[in-house]
Amino acid sequence: MAIFCFITRKPFIDSCDFIYIMQDHFTKRAKAQGYRARSVFKLKDIVKKYQFVKPTDSVLDLGASPGSWMQYLSRFCRYVLGVDISDVEDVKGAYFLKKNVMDEDIVKEIQKYKSKFDVIISDMAPKTTGQTFVDQESSLVLCERAWFIATHVLRGNGNFLCKIFQSKEGDDFLRELRKEFKLVKTSKPEGSKKKSKEVFYVCIGYKVIRV
Ligand SMILES: C[S@@+](CC[C@H](N)C(=O)[O-])C[C@H]1O[C@@H](n2cnc3c(N)ncnc32)[C@H](O)[C@@H]1O
Repeated sequence: MAIFCFITRKPFIDSCDFIYIMQDHFTKRAKAQGYRARSVFKLKDIVKKYQFVKPTDSVLDLGASPGSWMQYLSRFCRYVLGVDISDVEDVKGAYFLKKNVMDEDIVKEIQKYKSKFDVIISDMAPKTTGQTFVDQESSLVLCERAWFIATHVLRGNGNFLCKIFQSKEGDDFLRELRKEFKLVKTSKPEGSKKKSKEVFYVCIGYKVIRV
């Protein structure tokens, strides 16, 4: 006997149909709310769950293009700087630096805008090859770079967030982060594709003493 999907009314071959519909739902929702990407719901979910960003915060957004996180944050944060290797169309109330985070002078260039940030977030993703190990490795390199930048410009007691493709080496990196923050959680937020191996490391309260 065929089982039918209650939304499409088509045979429910496997759960892929339903997953696809949910993803399409996030894309439509983002568009309806004027956001440039569905990834905005991932950040919204994390902010809501962990009170991750406050209105008084200055935020550094690494891997910001096309700019949905910048759009969302600029509506309630004191200061937002986005960085990306690709362009970002103007976002009212936010600054943008077009730059590769791997460039040697990245910290100096960021500090031309602001020397310290309360929150640093990275949604950076490598161009995927389809080879799991290679993609995991490239994702980890970007996370480690985001962390390197954070060690220079994140304020004491500040928060850090990065997206990573899970791996054993990624777990080692997570253990390092646990030593640096009061609280570290792994999160698979709303809007993140179920079949994707991405998760977010949510790090709260940088232990370093720095103003
Ligand atoms: C998933 S998108 C970010 C989406 C963004 N959070 C938004 O809401 O619009 C990942 C971004 O990481 C950026 N990226 C990847 N490697 C980078 C690098 N080395 N330097 C700067 N940006 C990088 C890509 O250009 C891409 O725009």
